[in-house]
Amino acid sequence: MKVKTIGVLTSGGDAPGMNAAVRSVVRTSIAKGLNVVGIKRGYNGLISGEVVPMDLRSVSDIIHRGGTILYTARSPEFKTEEGMQKAISTCKDSGIDGIVVIGGDGSYRGARDLSLRGIPCVGIPGTIDNDIACSEYTIGFDTAMNTAVEMVDRLRDTAQSHERCTVVEVMGRNAGHLALHTGIAVGATAIIVSEVAYDIERDVVARMRRTQLSGKKHFIIVVSEGVGHVDQMAKQIELLTGIESRATVLGHVQRGGSPSVRDRVIASQMGHKAVDLLAGGIGNRVVAMKDSHIVDYDIYEGLSMQKGLDIELYKIAHEISI
Ligand code: ADP
Ligand code: F6P
Repeated sequence: MKVKTIGVLTSGGDAPGMNAAVRSVVRTSIAKGLNVVGIKRGYNGLISGEVVPMDLRSVSDIIHRGGTILYTARSPEFKTEEGMQKAISTCKDSGIDGIVVIGGDGSYRGARDLSLRGIPCVGIPGTIDNDIACSEYTIGFDTAMNTAVEMVDRLRDTAQSHERCTVVEVMGRNAGHLALHTGIAVGATAIIVSEVAYDIERDVVARMRRTQLSGKKHFIIVVSEGVGHVDQMAKQIELLTGIESRATVLGHVQRGGSPSVRDRVIASQMGHKAVDLLAGGIGNRVVAMKDSHIVDYDIYEGLSMQKGLDIELYKIAHEISI
């Protein structure tokens, strides 16, 4: 089917670079002679009909901004048949015949359900967690890593001055990618992620004692959100080592801020690819990165893939933090 009007929405947790993706979708659509509209507040806006026209200038001055100008939401109603029917009505009323969904794998499942009901959708991976199985990379990951590293560098200053141990929790939901990359980039003494079983005595305390013998006086322990309990962990470390310890949860600071070059560029490429697909009459796809190239998969295939933690990187991190 020939698509005439493309809708674009952002869904799930916001991620730096989502605006660059929206901009790319809008500008590519217009360049191809298509109408393009923005759907506000993710699937909630599709249910309530919050549809706004987008023109070339509607996406001016946003490429450098974090968050999403379209707002985002998690929409439990969209998972109900009633919500889904309202969303389809909005598409019909607004003439939307193809949608670009920028979000995580939950948002992809919503896109799959819409595609099943005759609204062609294309997903773009947007989440700081980098946990979308079919894609090596998700928009926002690079910026979030750099933010986390900057924050841990600050924690290092105070840990160094007080000769303390700083235990820091990094986001990522159940995935340890953000924690692993942050941990290796800050030279953490230990990185604890939920994908790898750990023992506090063996994997934290013994490592601290070993590095202490060669003169180390302050310690950084990076913990992924999926493991959590950093307050308790800091108390336990202090008890077992006698080294004063403090816990910090980085939280939502990691989600904000101006997107990095990498996020802006990849978002621009992915937005372009998504519109290319829809304009060519191809829906029910997800845009992804494979071997550093932008590719696309069938949405079912994409959702059925598995992605583990980079165990080689995990081993390297621990081998060199001695
Ligand atoms: P993310 O897209 O970042 O993974 P969520 O998991 O919160 O974030 O999903 C975003 C939205 O996508 C949900 O609020 C819901 O509206 C929709 N969604 C999530 N899971 C499903 C599902 N299994 N079926 C249909 N829609 C879903
Ligand atoms: O998916 C992005 C993310 O920031 C996760 O890392 C985290 O678990 C979750 O969203 C937090 O969600 P909320 O913003 O709803 O608290």
